[in-house]
Amino acid sequence: MRLSLLIVPVIFLYSCNDNRPTLKILQSEINYLNVKNDSLEKEIQEIKPGLGDLMLMVQVHHNKLWFAGKEENWPLAQFEHDEIMEILRQAESIEKERSEVKLFKVMIYSQLDSVQTSINLKNTDRFVSSFTNLTSACNNCHTNTKFSFNKIVIPEHPPYSNQEFEPVK
Ligand code: HEC
Repeated sequence: MRLSLLIVPVIFLYSCNDNRPTLKILQSEINYLNVKNDSLEKEIQEIKPGLGDLMLMVQVHHNKLWFAGKEENWPLAQFEHDEIMEILRQAESIEKERSEVKLFKVMIYSQLDSVQTSINLKNTDRFVSSFTNLTSACNNCHTNTKFSFNKIVIPEHPPYSNQEFEPVK
């Protein structure tokens, strides 16, 4: 009886000192979390929009930007410009494995800046020439990345019939 009273605390102390089991548990928790991260990563890859999907959105805003600028609806032109920027930034952050997104910086941001300047100045002539350069920037990249079959032009019609481009009075 006396002996067991002594042994039990000793075993207890020993087990507290030996932190290997704790490490083991931690390690298995880390492994579990890693597995979780892997499957989460896989899920993200499956549901995130691809570069082509994001480009389709850019295409629509590129079109609307043209009609907004032509009609001198500067707040709308600003909005469409910002949408294009936002989508390109989104592509840069979620499509890291696509080398093409690294080209945005050198191939299209300065053209978007010029469009921005024309909007700031509310200058239609500048808008037309900067939009033309922007459209060339789209095509320069498509050509550089072997997507030259994907040719962007200055649009003839707005993408949808249910939106007014004239400035709201
Ligand atoms: C720096 C490179 C780059 C720039 C700049 C760029 N694109 Fe793209 N674009 C691509 C790549 C790469 C693809 C092919 C994506 C894929 O593999 O699905 C593409 C595809 C597209 C598509 C095809 C989507 C479809 O399903 O029809 C459209 C439309 C498009 N781009 C529009 C534009 C417009 C409009 C601009 C300019 C405002 C632009 N792109 C600027 C690289 C670029």
